Amino acid sequence: MIITTNIESCKLLELKKIHNRAGNITIIQNGDFLPFNVKRVYYLYDVPGGSERGGHAHKNLFQLIVAASGSFDVIIDDGNNKKTISLNRPYYGLLIVPGIWREIVNFSSGAICLVLASEKYYEKDYIRNYSNFKIFKGLIC
Ligand code: TYD
Repeated sequence: MIITTNIESCKLLELKKIHNRAGNITIIQNGDFLPFNVKRVYYLYDVPGGSERGGHAHKNLFQLIVAASGSFDVIIDDGNNKKTISLNRPYYGLLIVPGIWREIVNFSSGAICLVLASEKYYEKDYIRNYSNFKIFKGLIC
């Protein structure tokens, strides 16, 4: 099966924010506006300067990536086109649909990359080799 998603299917979403003088709350709950239900939450932290994460695609997984603290850049790639999205506010989330290669770079000191995922961890859902990704997308044989 060939997955035809492209980088335009990935959206930067402004999340609900409740503001008061003692600080802010951002809420993400199933059934609100995410196109998936959340089955898993994980976060990257203590990322050493200069490190890069990601470097893979998923076959079926939807994710919402949030810079819960600090900042980083997410490079999304559908095999034809690439785009870099900078995340630096906890009230924005980048929706990544299945079939998109992603790399996460330029972590600021103290950055926390919060990920909400549509499925539990399943290694067979990963494509970790870029050539295999292009095959998966039907771009090479
Ligand atoms: P990986 O997704 O490759 O990290 P990143 O894309 O952020 O660089 O995961 C790193 C390791 O953690 C890998 O051995 C798999 C493991 N892991 C789990 O066991 N469960 C999970 O939910 C995730 C995201 C990773």
